[in-house]
Order: sequence, then structure tokens, then C-alpha cells
Amino acid sequence: MVEKLWGGRFEASLDKQTEEFGASIKFEQRLAPFDLKGSLAHVKMLGETGIITTEESQKIAEGLKKVEEKLLNGQIEFKMENEDIHMNMESYLHQEIGPLAGKLHTARSRNDQVATDMHLYLKSILEAVLEALKGLRETIVKLAVNQIDTIMPGYTHLQHAQPISFGQHLMAYYQMLTRDFERFEFNVKHTDMNPLGAAALAGTTFPIDRMLTTKLLGFEKAYDNSMDAVSDRDFILEFLSNASLLMMHLSRFCEELLLWSSHEFKFVSLSDAYSTGSSIMPQKKNPDMAELIRGKTGRVYGNLTALLTVMKGLPLAYNKDLQEDKEGMFDSADTIITSLTVMNGMLSTLTVNRVNMEKSTEQDFSNATELADYLAAKGLPFRKAHELVGLLVLDCIKKGIYLQDVNLQDYQMLSPLINEDVYEVLKSRTAVSRRNSLGGTGFESVKKLIEEAKKELQI
Ligand code: ARG
Repeated sequence: MVEKLWGGRFEASLDKQTEEFGASIKFEQRLAPFDLKGSLAHVKMLGETGIITTEESQKIAEGLKKVEEKLLNGQIEFKMENEDIHMNMESYLHQEIGPLAGKLHTARSRNDQVATDMHLYLKSILEAVLEALKGLRETIVKLAVNQIDTIMPGYTHLQHAQPISFGQHLMAYYQMLTRDFERFEFNVKHTDMNPLGAAALAGTTFPIDRMLTTKLLGFEKAYDNSMDAVSDRDFILEFLSNASLLMMHLSRFCEELLLWSSHEFKFVSLSDAYSTGSSIMPQKKNPDMAELIRGKTGRVYGNLTALLTVMKGLPLAYNKDLQEDKEGMFDSADTIITSLTVMNGMLSTLTVNRVNMEKSTEQDFSNATELADYLAAKGLPFRKAHELVGLLVLDCIKKGIYLQDVNLQDYQMLSPLINEDVYEVLKSRTAVSRRNSLGGTGFESVKKLIEEAKKELQI
């Protein structure tokens, strides 16, 4: 009973449903190019170390290249009976070069092979994620440059708090995404490690050269411990965790875009290219893409939770449970790369309604802190100033006016410290321009923030 590559020890063939249940080929086909790359490095090493002859090594390598070509030309048909990507590729190699193909698996196991594939795959994904993240950060900076002196309400508890620069608000997302970028960069360190040569778990009796495969595969280093090499999935968990934080940031940004583009706010409008209509309400322009990014955050969190749960009870070293590391990782990789691209497009085509933004800071009490600070700067204890302004706000609400509408006589009755210059202080533009404490919303301070970002991005 040897129809399977591992069939020697078996007398009966595998139950059909079991075969399907256990097979990973249905979801891991994207590993094919990485699997072939790993095999090429392995067979080259087998030849160089004399484990197989140079001629055998070359023949196998040529066969693998032919399979690679077939893969590129879409001539590979993945078969469930061959269970996983490794055996699917090996069976194609067999078609190319016959029984010699059987020598490829010397001093190797599917356990170190699959770990190698996953490291190679994630390395390439991290590269793409870093590039997309850099692109989005650039777009935010370019948007922010033109919005330094756009005044908008800053919120706490979703209530108007103090006027701010829209440029600063945008740059807050730049800061979050920069931390994401750094986290993914660090993720590379733990992904750029070669598990090949760990074999099933304990290494091998063959005189393999792990440094050679490490070099051939372009890995920074080899795993120090063969047992860790085949059972470690931390690099994937780090990725899923970084992806979750990233999506949380994108989701918060999307939530704001949704609010700002609503009828109530009218602060921004999204381009038609990133909106959809309604099948019943002809007037609708729905910000679906922002909602979808917010929604997809859930599945990315789910992928992290799923793999953490898979891993928590696993004894060393390889267990079949580890096969569950793939779908979530692929899904999160696809989701974040698409979300970054859509977000980038949405922001680079965004229209900002500066007039409405500024106007909404003129019909509110977001200048109340200015008045309290004004009194405190003139020597009144801040607590007292706070109380006085609070009472005045209450009075204004009853009269249906704002602080800037109170006449000077009434102001001076409230406190003789108040003069004509108070009206300038109460303007939201003045309020923003004066907040130049380190990291504050003042125009000068935001300009500095943007200059720093431009240096970081080299734009
Ligand atoms: N499909 C398996 C996985 O994804 C490959 C490794 C199989 N190893 C084994 N001993 N069954 O983890």
C-alpha cells in the first residue's frame, strides 16, 4: 500500500472524507513558488555536501525548474490525493525526472519544509506591506501639508472640545501608521530565519550545511534549535498582531471619514470612485469602502485569536494543528494589503470642506478654555477662572448666544481683568495658532511635525 508518499507503513487506503479533511492543498497553493525555491536550495546543498552526487543534484534542480515553469504557465493542477503543496510539487518532479525525484527529500521533512515555505512567504508579504504602508503615510503627509491652517473642532467624548488644525488631526494617523511600520519592520527580524535542516524535529544524521541553504534562500540567519524551528509560529502571530493594530488604526480613521462625510458634519466628501449607490434611494452616495475596512478589522482580529488559541496547548514539536496557521495568515495578508490600497485611494481623492469645518468651531463653546486661560494668564487662579467661565457659558446657553457675542460691559462685570483684546483671543483661528507647545496643534508646531515626517519618508 504505497500510493501515498508516506504509504509504506499502511495496509488500507485513507478514507475519502478523512483525506479531504486533512488535505491542506485546497488553501495553500500560493506557497508553490516558495516550496520550489526551498527545494532548489535544499537539493543544491545536498549536492555540494556530497549527500547526493553533483549530477543527481543538477538533474533534480533542472526538474524543479521545469515544474517552476509549468507553475508560471498555469499548467499545474493541484490534486487532493497529494494532500499538500510539498507532495503535489514532488509528484510533478517525479513526472519530470522519474524515481530520482525520491532523493530530494533526503535529510528533510515536511515539517521543516512547510516552516521554510511560511517564512519565505511571509517575508515577501512583509515587504509588500511595508511598501503599501509607506505609500499611505506619504499620502497622509501630502494631504496634511495643505490642511495645516484648516480649522476644525477637536473632540473629546465626541463633543466639541477645542479648535484644532485638521493637519494635526491627519498627522495623528501618520504617527500611528509609523508605529505600525516599525512593528512590521521588527517582524521581519523574526521571519528572516531559516528552519530548513531541522528535519522532522531533531536535525539529521546527514552532513547537511544549514548555512548554505540559509545563504541560498536569502535568510538572515538559521534557527539555533531544530525543535524550535519546526514548532515556532511566533513570526506569524507577530504578523497577525501587527495586522490587528494596523486595522484598528485604519478602522478608527474610517469611522471618522464616515462621520465627517455625513449630512450632519459635511466636513469632507469621498470621491465617487470610492462610493456606491443605493438600489432604492436614488439620492444615496454610500461610503461603503470605509465601512468595509472598518468591518474587515473584525476578521483580522479573529485570525489572531484563532492562531493564539491553536498554539496555546501544543506540546513540542510539530503537531498537525499547526496546519491551521495558514488560512488566517493568508486572509490577513490579503485583507491588510487591500485595505491599505483602498485607504490610500480614498484619501488621495478626498475633498475637504474647509469652510464648514471652520464654521463649526464658530458656533460652539470650544473657545471656553481660551477665556479661562486668558483670565489665568492675568493672575486669576485657573480653578476660579474655570468656574467663572462655566457660569458664563450657562448664561449664554440660556440666552442663545456664544462667548464671542457677549458685550464688553458684561465681560467687565464678570471680571475687570477682561479687556477688548478678549475678542481676538476667542477666535478659533487665534486659539489654534497660539498652541505651539511641543506637539501642540499650533500652525508652527504642525509644520514641524510635517517637516519631520517628510524627512522620515525622504519626500
Ligand atoms: N500540511 C502540513 C502543514 O501545513 C505540512 C506538514 C505536514 N507534516 C506532517 N508531519 N504531517 O503543517
